[in-house]
Amino acid sequence: MLKGKSFLKLLDFTTEELQYLLDLAKKLKEDKKNKTEKKKLTGKNIALIFEKTSTRTRCAFEVAAYDQGANITYIGPSTSQINDKESIEDTAKVLGRFYDGIEYRGYGQDLVETLAKYSGVPVWNGLTTEFHPTQILADFLTILEKKGTLKGIKFAYLGDGKNNMASSLMIGAAKFGMDFTIVAPKEYFPDKELAETALKLAEENGGRVSFTDDRIGGVKDADVIYTDVWVSMGESYDVWDERINRLSYYQVNSDLVKHAKEDYLFMHCLPAFHDLNTKVAQEIEKKYGIKEMEVTDEVFRSKNSVVFDEAENRMHTIKAVMVATLGED
Ligand code: CP
Ligand code: NVA
Repeated sequence: MLKGKSFLKLLDFTTEELQYLLDLAKKLKEDKKNKTEKKKLTGKNIALIFEKTSTRTRCAFEVAAYDQGANITYIGPSTSQINDKESIEDTAKVLGRFYDGIEYRGYGQDLVETLAKYSGVPVWNGLTTEFHPTQILADFLTILEKKGTLKGIKFAYLGDGKNNMASSLMIGAAKFGMDFTIVAPKEYFPDKELAETALKLAEENGGRVSFTDDRIGGVKDADVIYTDVWVSMGESYDVWDERINRLSYYQVNSDLVKHAKEDYLFMHCLPAFHDLNTKVAQEIEKKYGIKEMEVTDEVFRSKNSVVFDEAENRMHTIKAVMVATLGED
């Protein structure tokens, strides 16, 4: 169904195609647990380009590739000629002659699109400034496992409504007919053009997309509460002041989640600023005097939190993307 195709953004796929990837991921997950997994990528060579750092995405691609019999080359930030001495177009033309598939994490969406255009092999978006489509597959597989459906799920996203997670979740939710709300200050609502696309998709799929700055109303009776970091990779530290000032009111904490359904799921793509055990979080505390950011440690560790199920599902869903686009039948 998807052989030879790149996975660059959810907008390129029908709901049926995305459902196919979720079904395949579920099967691959079961096969791995039952030790009945069949290798579909034997002998394939895969390049993993990371111009931004990663834990989950990199490891998910590596483990998925090994499980399926493929070989990988990891190209980390600043360890190749990419974008420094050599254009993405030339890089694509070279790597396309060596590799059967390429993962790319980096800056503008145009870069991953150019890589796909000139490499002639499937390219998978491992996160760009605009979109993070493989994360959405993991998130939606997790919701399916916990709630049994995506259609009609009341989903509240709090925080930076303009970032790659908000944009990708909004488009994914619209395609699956969810009841999706961005809960943020108005200036952090998604860009108009993408919001209009999402509204149209939601209507076509029997769902709803809305935007509110009312944090209590926005999470009322929610099945899922989702948040992400207030400052994304690649953004300047100069924006911290404004983000903390504007987004603190939208922190996911125990007072807020009382308004969701009792069995709501707390979700986060990770990494999350929920405690002080990291270097950056300690700098933030020193400068701003706050101990937690987008989510409190209490909510993050609560029984409603499914963040580590989501993280595990990165591997199964990324495996599905590679098998579907590159696997032997
Ligand atoms: N969620 C996610 O993409 O994590 P990494 O940045 O660790 O890959
Ligand atoms: N919005 C975050 C997502 C990390 C997985 C970032 O781009 O840094």
